[in-house]
Amino acid sequence: MNKVRTHHAIETIGLEGQQVRLAGWVARRRDHGGVTFIDLRDASGVVQVVADPAQLPIAADLRMEACIAVDGVVRPRPEGTVNNDLATGAFEVVVTIIELLSPAEPIPFMIDDRVEIDEQTRLEYRYLDLRRPRMAANLRARSKAVAAIRRTLDERGFLEIETPTLVSSTPEGARDMLVPSRLRPGAFYALPQSPQLFKQLLMISGVERYFQIARCYRDEDFRSDRQLEFTQLDLEGAFWDEESVQENIEATLVAAVRDLRGVDIPCPFPRMTWQESMDRYGVDKPDTRFGMEIVDLTDEFRASEFRGFAGVVNAGGVVRGINTGGRELARSAADALVDDAKRLGAKGLVWMVVEPDGSLRSPVAKFLSEGESSAIAERLQAKPGDVLLLVADQWRTAVSVLGALRLQLGRPSGHEELKFLWVTDFPMFEEGEGGLTFLHHPFTSPQDVAVMASSPLQALSRAYDVVVNGVELGSGSIRIHDPNVQSQVFEILGISQAEQESRFGWFLKALRYGTPPHGGFAFGIDRLVMVLQQEINIREVIPFPKTQSGFDPLTEAPTEVEPAQLQEVGLRLDVRREK
Ligand code: AMO
Ligand code: AMP
Repeated sequence: MNKVRTHHAIETIGLEGQQVRLAGWVARRRDHGGVTFIDLRDASGVVQVVADPAQLPIAADLRMEACIAVDGVVRPRPEGTVNNDLATGAFEVVVTIIELLSPAEPIPFMIDDRVEIDEQTRLEYRYLDLRRPRMAANLRARSKAVAAIRRTLDERGFLEIETPTLVSSTPEGARDMLVPSRLRPGAFYALPQSPQLFKQLLMISGVERYFQIARCYRDEDFRSDRQLEFTQLDLEGAFWDEESVQENIEATLVAAVRDLRGVDIPCPFPRMTWQESMDRYGVDKPDTRFGMEIVDLTDEFRASEFRGFAGVVNAGGVVRGINTGGRELARSAADALVDDAKRLGAKGLVWMVVEPDGSLRSPVAKFLSEGESSAIAERLQAKPGDVLLLVADQWRTAVSVLGALRLQLGRPSGHEELKFLWVTDFPMFEEGEGGLTFLHHPFTSPQDVAVMASSPLQALSRAYDVVVNGVELGSGSIRIHDPNVQSQVFEILGISQAEQESRFGWFLKALRYGTPPHGGFAFGIDRLVMVLQQEINIREVIPFPKTQSGFDPLTEAPTEVEPAQLQEVGLRLDVRREK
């Protein structure tokens, strides 16, 4: 029998009269003249321990968060002292021995979900931060999510395969993290942005179903849903089409949501094309928990007296609008919305308030005919009190600006409700700085090779995303398995034959050995757990994350290294160290 402890805190429930030995941390201590109450916390929860300081002087001296073991007997709490907030709240343990296993320094912050602590301090003392119930719950949820994913894919015959993390660059659109090689001075490994090319090689190897819980590294700017290193569920299958990928991904997500939330999300998830998503929501990751959809008003303004709008329409632009619903719109709030729209790239924003008689109050009302006003009101299904917002611009700008304002004004807080969907039929390419860039990655198959060859910007790809509540959870595609098409895509991306050979020659070669048609997907495990745990920052579900500036206040990474270490890898520093 374990002599360090016999029971967990949670196991004291219903054990009245029984002798137990518990171990954990002092979560709280209260002295009530002659009795000391200690909330003892272990991984299972908290139980109240009662000690007589006259018998056990140590009870009155225990510091918060000291690590202790206690021996005692479980008893029901006296009438009127039951604590319903605690799972063990109907019981307490009357102790005869308290053993200090490990003392604690004065703690830098209370181990309590309700206190606000600055990020730097939380991360510097992350081991204490993780003792907080919310953080401990997030760790457990993450573990459960991964277990559900593994179980589902194992049952479906997938092989879990580890791919290397010291690799040559995999383009996913971010900057690589580099690792200098000692054995080949002057040469560098890249840390993988994803296992993309290795999983495709595995398809060529004859592994028909692969997955991995893969750590990925991208040197990109931090956001609330991005870190330098993060974890993907990465998956690939041979002889698959879009349906096969989507069905397997849905099954893993259903299992994870069931295990974490106890609900069954409906399958199959709704599908929406990229074009429809942009038209209705102004983004490629729509939050479909609420309406406020974007409406096309272009025709209403074609012949309008309002020159600002008619001019945009006649120059090939569009007019789009949203009905933000009934709300107060003070002048200052209206001005702030106009400023927001301009900051987002619009030339302006027209707001309209629907008066009780159905007429429109707006800075541009005087330019609108009665027919135009009522057409706008009708198209936007306006009711008295509603606030309407209109933008005239090129299509992409108009929908993006309204899409952003829609989120700003209507997005539910938290993630209680879950609205998963697939966004499909992305364009292959978009205009980037200095040429075309890919939307997904360069290994994604076009829907039609001929269209791609003649007008690349018109070409659609076989890529698809999973979105939940406006969060891009994951992306995937059916891949190119024909080396000539792969080469053609590189060409369109401005990668010359010579560069293709030097960077991807090994991959193009592999494609020439009987590559099966294949496709796959990856979703962010951090993002999934973030949403399911209703967190707004990915950091809350990553045990040891970095700050916005890529720093770890706990270990102080990244750190400088000894000159000898640099010499070994053939490097000399050319930067002034800032003190
Ligand atoms: P993609 O680049 O879209 O696709 O990445 C897939 C998912 O990984 C998560 N993710 C991140 N999470 C946290 N921090 C980051 N910096 C970060 N970057 C990405 C997101 C994202 O949706 N190889 C392809 C997948 C494929 O085609 O199979 C890929 O990596 O949740
Ligand atoms: P102006 O005629 O430029 O003073 O604009 C009249 C109103 O229309 C102002 O409220 C502007 O913010 C708005 N506005 C101007 N151009 C646009 C545009 N392209 N889209 C939406 N609103 C605009």
